[in-house]
Amino acid sequence: MPRSTPPATVHDSLVLEPRDVRFDWSALPLHWIPDEPMATHTINVLHLLLPEGERWFVKVFKDALPLITDEQLREEVLGFIGQEAIHAEAHQEVLDHLLGQGLDPRPYVRQISWLFHRVLGDKPGLTPAQRRENTIERVAFVAAIEHFTAFLGNWALNSPGLDRAKADPTMLDLLRWHGAEEVEHRSVAYDLMVHLDPGYLRRVRGMAVSGPLLVHLWVRGARFMLAADPTLDGRIRPTWREARLIARRGLLPDPGRAVRSALRYFRPGYHPTQEGSSSQALAYLATSPAARAAATH
Ligand SMILES: [Fe+2]
Ligand SMILES: [Fe+2]
Repeated sequence: MPRSTPPATVHDSLVLEPRDVRFDWSALPLHWIPDEPMATHTINVLHLLLPEGERWFVKVFKDALPLITDEQLREEVLGFIGQEAIHAEAHQEVLDHLLGQGLDPRPYVRQISWLFHRVLGDKPGLTPAQRRENTIERVAFVAAIEHFTAFLGNWALNSPGLDRAKADPTMLDLLRWHGAEEVEHRSVAYDLMVHLDPGYLRRVRGMAVSGPLLVHLWVRGARFMLAADPTLDGRIRPTWREARLIARRGLLPDPGRAVRSALRYFRPGYHPTQEGSSSQALAYLATSPAARAAATH
């Protein structure tokens, strides 16, 4: 099947380099945005979702490799797999650190693991045609989720509120290094989906399932983290009103903007390159302490 529209916006020279970063979490405070437990834990939901989620992306993309007939796209997919595998491990280390600080994330992570392995995992007994269809459907879910990871990455790269609030610099570097790579590779999953199925319905279905699921998981995750924080005694329950107020101070992405961004995914002429800036992402990666250290070891 030929590579599909929209050709005008597809990269012709995207070379994705997995950067083997390391972070030292030994000095990370539990509330790494000082005195902002709700903002801290709402962002911490990333660490709950991403290790399992990104390992699943890697699995889905490996399953999709034999279906790819475009050499450049295959190279991009391989680069994407390399980057996502490192992202998953970087966030896993934060989870291990939280456990050491008395906040046990494992009950929630077990639910996420069940979701990705049992609900979205391999289905036994499929015919080759059904297996191909199942792989393409999962690629469409990844493409929709990657719209959000690029949105969040773009926000992380443009979030001076976190600096003003004196957020932990190592965590900021993790968020911005990861965010920059999400912006850098934001078109790969979408281009893969369109390569395997150019139909609009596939795109719509991917977002219609992934968008509400992601919101649900995020709200549950924030509730879980605030309840599990041993220093809070369950005193803080997250609300949308509070989230909007915190977003106004620049410590969380604005929920309304996230919804409007998701709606743009349905536009007929949509392409991920219309969101975020590759040059800004690459500029951050050139100065990121972790990415620079990775380049020298
Ligand atoms: Fe990632
Ligand atoms: Fe990604």
